[in-house]
Amino acid sequence: MSNKSSNQMWGGRFAAGQDAIMEAINASIGFDKRMAQQDIQGSRAHAAMLAETGIITDSDAETIREGLLTVLSEIEDGNFEFSTALEDIHMNVEARLKEIVGEPAGRLHTARSRNDQVATDFKLWVRDQLDAFEQGLLALIAAFLDQAEAGAAWVMPGFTHLQTAQPVTWGHHMMAYVEMFGRDLSRVRDARERMNECPLGAAALAGTSFPINRHMTAAALGFTRPAANSLDAVSDRDFALEFMSVASICAMHLSRFAEELVIWSSAQFKFVMLSDSFSTGSSIMPQKKNPDAAELIRAKVGRIFGANVALMMVMKGLPLAYSKDMQEDKEQVFDAADSLMLALAAMEGMIKDMTANRDNLSAAAGSGFSTATDLADWLVRALNMPFRDAHHVTGSLVAMAEQKGCDLPDLTLADMQSVHDAITDDVFSVLTVENSVASRMSYGGTAPAQVLVQVQMWKDRL
Ligand code: ARG
Repeated sequence: MSNKSSNQMWGGRFAAGQDAIMEAINASIGFDKRMAQQDIQGSRAHAAMLAETGIITDSDAETIREGLLTVLSEIEDGNFEFSTALEDIHMNVEARLKEIVGEPAGRLHTARSRNDQVATDFKLWVRDQLDAFEQGLLALIAAFLDQAEAGAAWVMPGFTHLQTAQPVTWGHHMMAYVEMFGRDLSRVRDARERMNECPLGAAALAGTSFPINRHMTAAALGFTRPAANSLDAVSDRDFALEFMSVASICAMHLSRFAEELVIWSSAQFKFVMLSDSFSTGSSIMPQKKNPDAAELIRAKVGRIFGANVALMMVMKGLPLAYSKDMQEDKEQVFDAADSLMLALAAMEGMIKDMTANRDNLSAAAGSGFSTATDLADWLVRALNMPFRDAHHVTGSLVAMAEQKGCDLPDLTLADMQSVHDAITDDVFSVLTVENSVASRMSYGGTAPAQVLVQVQMWKDRL
């Protein structure tokens, strides 16, 4: 096998170099280069702290900090040559720093280990994602609020079991998603706050004998405080799991609306028109306009939740503290984050562009005996009937309408009275879908006035 020289960063005790396959399985540079900016940010904070506490000289710290900026600009400009032999982003950056500034570079790793370094870099990366996640959710919620406000009074069928249940308003349906994504937003904020403790200075696992100031690095990197236990600090990946859990729930919410869009945009439903910019055609069937974006969003939850499960399985049963298994954390999180951000943006774009077909929504709202509950409620209110009896009478009327091939409002008063003679003309006032939705003024109900209250409340809240 290969006979290369040993690793320049940790090869002191190694006589021979690595097998190529060992190098391939060991290296993470292929993916962790995405954390270059965070790695350099963390190292600059660490160097400043080492100088402040007198562990290295001010001049060495200044040299290191300047050199790190040079490395960063090389990476950002695409002028950096990443090396697999140098394993990961941490050693690639440090090795290049050494080439640029020489001896002081070797002092950067004082009182630190790659274990606290990687935990810090990764946390900074995930924290940025939570911030982007928050912005994506805010934009998505705003798009739903616009739809809800415009269509607060548009009637449509409400479904249970995907069977027509009771009429609802378009605004009410949109606001249901505002509630879901609003909870996602609060989970994002909650997760960000909980994860915001700095691992840097935990060193390999036990802390360090150098007089470091962990509060200083924590503050410099925007963390609320240093993580309180060094063993936990280097072996905790809860923050990544929590990000992916929140992302999974959000992706599940996205998939539910995506599925509704797939159904609603079909020729059989025609509830919405998706814009050309978020649809595709078929290469063989010229008439087709496919809701591909919605379908892909519907699928992303599989990928995101899959990543969450994968990392959960990696972490399960790992003894304290760091184990190399944990290097398997990043690709899962990167992929979940990329998928989530894309799905959020695509959904926001689709909602902004979609047009509700009000005529079809309204026609569908009145079909399928959707005001049967209103009729039963009328019998309770007007005739003081127990609800169970009213339910039974209404059931007979539905059966009669079904037999006649008409909807409930098309029955005559005589038809109604043949089932129950106390029914009066007044009953017809509750059989229209407009009256049905307007009457549902209970808090959180579907009445247009209630929907507008909720829209305003969310606008004030955001
Ligand atoms: N590339 C490693 C990772 O992603 C960095 C930490 C390596 N630490 C170690 N003790 N080998 O986890």
